[in-house]
Amino acid sequence: MNKYCEQWDLNPLKLPQHIGIVMDGNGRWATKKHLPRIAGHRKGVERVQEITEFCGNIGIQALTLFAFSDENWRRPEEEVGGIMGLLRWYIRKEHARIKENNVQFRVIGDRRKLSVDIIELIENLEHDTRFNTGMHLCIALSYGARGEILRAVRKLVEKVNQKEIYPNDIDENIFEECLDTQGLPQLDMFIRTSGEIRVSNFLLWQLAYAELFFSESLWPDFDTKKLVDLIQQFTLRERRFGMTSEQIKKINQKSF
Ligand code: IPE
Ligand code: IPE
Ligand code: MG
Repeated sequence: MNKYCEQWDLNPLKLPQHIGIVMDGNGRWATKKHLPRIAGHRKGVERVQEITEFCGNIGIQALTLFAFSDENWRRPEEEVGGIMGLLRWYIRKEHARIKENNVQFRVIGDRRKLSVDIIELIENLEHDTRFNTGMHLCIALSYGARGEILRAVRKLVEKVNQKEIYPNDIDENIFEECLDTQGLPQLDMFIRTSGEIRVSNFLLWQLAYAELFFSESLWPDFDTKKLVDLIQQFTLRERRFGMTSEQIKKINQKSF
């Protein structure tokens, strides 16, 4: 029994495999405290460290964090610059820890829009953690799900043009291999903080059968205890995938 699961009263057999989080509410957190918005983003990074460490400890296989959307480039230059500065600081500071904790690091999204030095920091960390076998930590940066799907379509069209595959070969597995999340376990838990009930162009394909959770907490206030509460709720949900409750109960009995 994993000691962290025991400590937090979580059933290790019922944990989600892959959690995706829209970390929203940094700006409102700062404004409420009469601080500049960047102070909220700074506090948000601390939560990233806490939540990442916790998920790794309890044995979550993949954690995808929405840090900066493709649409967020539209924010004031000063805020975008501040967030990029925090990103540099985070990767530099966490590089060794992520590597030593056996975490596999990956960035998803359209990284061509990021500055060259940030791309280099990301690529170095991805490279240095490529043989790690622990949790996948996936940061969505300059990410939009529609853009990701279009990139996948372009890759497939290219494969068809090169006669590597025929159009009829294209099934869900082949499509998923062309997404930025290829190789990650199926997303089964989605969380958005800050009380907003929307998906904001996050993992649209991958969300197909995820369980959705919306927290009223602003991201800088979203601590381990709040995540544990939601994971406990997740473990109580019956995931039916189109089947009946009776069918699911039989399947569960057989697997024990
Ligand atoms: C989420 O917090 C972080 C980013 C989008 C970069 P926000 O900055 O969106 O915070 P609110 O929604 O304005 O409170
Ligand atoms: C979504 O939050 C993106 C991130 C959390 C990084 P936003 O705050 O940008 O989303 P909208 O604009 O309210 O939908
Ligand atoms: Mg927001």
